[in-house]
Amino acid sequence: ASSQQQQLIQLHEKAAEVYHHMLMNTAIGEAALDYLHKRGLDDQLIEEFNIGFAPNQRDFLVRVFQNESLDSEAFPNSGLFVERESEELVDRFYQRIMFPIRNFQGKTVGFSGRFFATEEISNQEQPKYLNSPETSLFNKREILFNFDKARSSIRKGSTVYLFEGFMDVLAAYHSGVTNGIASMGTSLTNEQITSISRIAQELVICYDGDQAGLDATNRAISHLQETSRLNLSIVSVPEGLDPDEYVKKYGQDAFVNLLEHGKETVFLFKMRYRRLNKNMANEKEQLEYVQELLQDLLDVDSLIEQDRYLTQLSSEFQISRESLQQQLYDLKRQRR
Ligand code: CTP
Ligand code: MN
Ligand code: MN
Ligand code: MN
Ligand code: MN
Repeated sequence: ASSQQQQLIQLHEKAAEVYHHMLMNTAIGEAALDYLHKRGLDDQLIEEFNIGFAPNQRDFLVRVFQNESLDSEAFPNSGLFVERESEELVDRFYQRIMFPIRNFQGKTVGFSGRFFATEEISNQEQPKYLNSPETSLFNKREILFNFDKARSSIRKGSTVYLFEGFMDVLAAYHSGVTNGIASMGTSLTNEQITSISRIAQELVICYDGDQAGLDATNRAISHLQETSRLNLSIVSVPEGLDPDEYVKKYGQDAFVNLLEHGKETVFLFKMRYRRLNKNMANEKEQLEYVQELLQDLLDVDSLIEQDRYLTQLSSEFQISRESLQQQLYDLKRQRR
């Protein structure tokens, strides 16, 4: 890494350290620490992930660094500050719980800050999460939350769990599932898929159980099928919950059980997903549904699996197995 890069990393490591100190050891961070405890994060986990708190002050980090001799470029290029009209730099993150984002080597290269609302400071115009901007260190297309820590257990089982948010990764980690990662609120990129494919054979998508999570799951499946040879399975969190809410409601053991024994095949996910926005009492929509699923069935490699689903469709919709099979065959020829 160039000396500019080194300086930027040092800047981030130091910022993470002072944010962490504010959270753990000061009155300013007390309410935020209570909040994290209430959400089920204990001190050990907070330490391990070096979680911190950025006080409600625009010159907190500015002051931390005021006596450091740094390149004039390092400050504006770090993403930790924003420029005011007067060209003065002020802190980007304030009144936020700070989650350091590490690169694959375990170095902190960015932050995601969760707005911390209190009675005095209400939530109105603030986005829930604020992330570092794209910088020479923080490449959003490549970064995967927790990939550095998860790498060895991903390798060991050649399986990786993909979550939507990093609170979900932390909830899983705390439950002993250490092979979880998240793509941080954006859809998966080709770069991320390549990194995952290098060390895993199986990828389990465990996004939020709400409509947005289901839609994101469907998109991720298509993208992964087009660009990788990973074996995919899906864990759908019930009741529209996200994994972290599920742990809170049903406990860690139930969650681990769901992750290990609640996996479904891509096709079964499609069967559930495709009927969500259809009126299945309507004949036309029923037929559309069957057509869509036959398309999905083309992506099922295992003949045994295909056979089983044909039987299922045939009996559910009273269509002869032969015509379904013939249709599937025709679709296959069209696709080539
Ligand atoms: N996200 C973001 N900006 C937002 C909302 C979400 O960048 N305004 C990203 C975050 O990386 C977040 C992920 O999208 O982790 C999933 O969003 P969401 O499900 O809304 O957040 P949770 O992870 O459930 O966060 P929390 O439990 O703290 O509410
Ligand atoms: Mn500490
Ligand atoms: Mn969500
Ligand atoms: Mn969520
Ligand atoms: Mn959540």
